Amino acid sequence: MTAPLLEVIGVYKSFPGTQALRDVSFELLPGEVHALMGENGAGKSTLMHIISGVYLPDAGEIRIEGHPVVLRGPRQAQDMGIGMVFQELSLAPGLSIAENVFPNRAPTRLGGAIAWGELYRRTRDLLSPFEINIAPQTLVRDLSVTARQIVEIVKALSLNARILLLDEPTSALPPNEVERLFDVIRRLKARGIGIVYISHRIPEVMNIADRVTVLRDGQKVATHDIAAVTPDRIIEEMVGRKITDLYPERAAEIGAELLRAEGLGRENVFSDISFSLRRGEIVGIAGLMGARRSDLLRALVGVGRIDTGRIFIEGKPVRITSPEQAFGMGMAYLPEERKTDGLFLKMPLRQNVSVTSLRDFARMGLMSARKEAAVTRTFVNRLRIRTPDVEQIVGRLSGGNQQKVMFSKWLVRQSRILIIDEPTKGVDVGAKVEIHTLLRELTRQGAGVLFVSSEFPEIIGLADRILIMYEGRIVGEIPAEQATEQSLMLLSSGYQVETQSAGV
Ligand SMILES: Nc1ncnc2c1ncn2[C@@H]1O[C@H](COP(=O)(O)OP(=O)(O)OP(=O)(O)O)[C@@H](O)[C@H]1O
Ligand SMILES: [Mg+2]
Repeated sequence: MTAPLLEVIGVYKSFPGTQALRDVSFELLPGEVHALMGENGAGKSTLMHIISGVYLPDAGEIRIEGHPVVLRGPRQAQDMGIGMVFQELSLAPGLSIAENVFPNRAPTRLGGAIAWGELYRRTRDLLSPFEINIAPQTLVRDLSVTARQIVEIVKALSLNARILLLDEPTSALPPNEVERLFDVIRRLKARGIGIVYISHRIPEVMNIADRVTVLRDGQKVATHDIAAVTPDRIIEEMVGRKITDLYPERAAEIGAELLRAEGLGRENVFSDISFSLRRGEIVGIAGLMGARRSDLLRALVGVGRIDTGRIFIEGKPVRITSPEQAFGMGMAYLPEERKTDGLFLKMPLRQNVSVTSLRDFARMGLMSARKEAAVTRTFVNRLRIRTPDVEQIVGRLSGGNQQKVMFSKWLVRQSRILIIDEPTKGVDVGAKVEIHTLLRELTRQGAGVLFVSSEFPEIIGLADRILIMYEGRIVGEIPAEQATEQSLMLLSSGYQVETQSAGV
């Protein structure tokens, strides 16, 4: 038998109020992709932070190729061949892609000056498998979330690590980019590199992993060979109960028009966008990187400019120039990058949930901490937010639990038109089902939902109707019942567009 690259033996780690890891053991073999799964707050990132030297364990041992090691800091872990892609993107927005990929490690000329040509060439080589046509000189702040995630991965790869830790590397990647990442992972595997792969997407894990370890409440539940386990079994082990219906029933009744766009365009971004959204309806927008789906959502709520076309709300033409104005007209928008957009990381959960709706709380004369706490508690229970209590500082919650707080904060506003970019990014299966059910309930009460998701199964399962975007245009519209992942992939790749134009 091959000796493990990495062994974690009986590790414990606690934070004030939380036992994050309890007697966890884990092992990684050369050339293995070992998935780590568990609900939000189960302890996955904490375990990765211990392996990458960010945290010291309270007890337990780590061995690298059989040798016990004490990792005092990320630098030391790096020197031992451990590379990590963090769940929270960690790039410097004001620097170029190349400078981010090689921080403090840029190739230099004799005398110490940075060899820019060499730096750009190496960066380009690393980017090439992803086929993102972006110059290494581009500033990170000008990149889409997807492109940033790719840069983050490329940065870890540049370290030539023997052990690679990927914490939700695909949470913002559309299906074709996920495939590219998997190609890269397979090549690394073939070179004997061991990869720990954290994801909430079960199909991905079934596809890429050799083994899976499930954590629940900071403890290890089991390790399985992928070939010997079913998705249902993994879900049950993660959540400790059976989840049968993954998606809620579709709309029973679709009502009057809420929102309509006619010929919306913005130079070099999107053009000729027309669609409608009705009461009781959920419309999903599918597309790949560069389809401009997020740009469209942003423009609808006044964050980005619109050059041409018109927007109607309940039949009346409107001009929207800011999200506040959109909110006043009954629209709520939840952006993809939630951390930077509006969570107060140093404030308690309770105040984060209520802060955007201060107006509502005040109007009802209920601006009391008690009322806030009660409302927050219903979301904590419903979405299974893992926290000691509603007074916990949001910055101390796990990544997925922060997403759930953001979602609660948004729902509290009770808008009629819900516009949401990646509704379940980073949240676990249980909460995913709850979020879908909640959105469905809201539409039953007369709301309409327009959402973008990079997961085709989610679009098919949640939407009533699907719009497909390709390079800034809507190239197709299909009822969700008729959609398959294959058909969405084809349309999203511009297949129809290109065959049509080839025909004329
Ligand atoms: N710095 C910290 N201070 C206090 N508590 C923390 C800290 N970091 C993590 N925790 C807590 O430890 C537990 C495990 O968190 P961890 O981030 O490891 O979860 P996770 O499995 O990665 O979840 P997710 O899927 O949401 O990313 C959570 O209850 C979290 O709130
Ligand atoms: Mg995490």
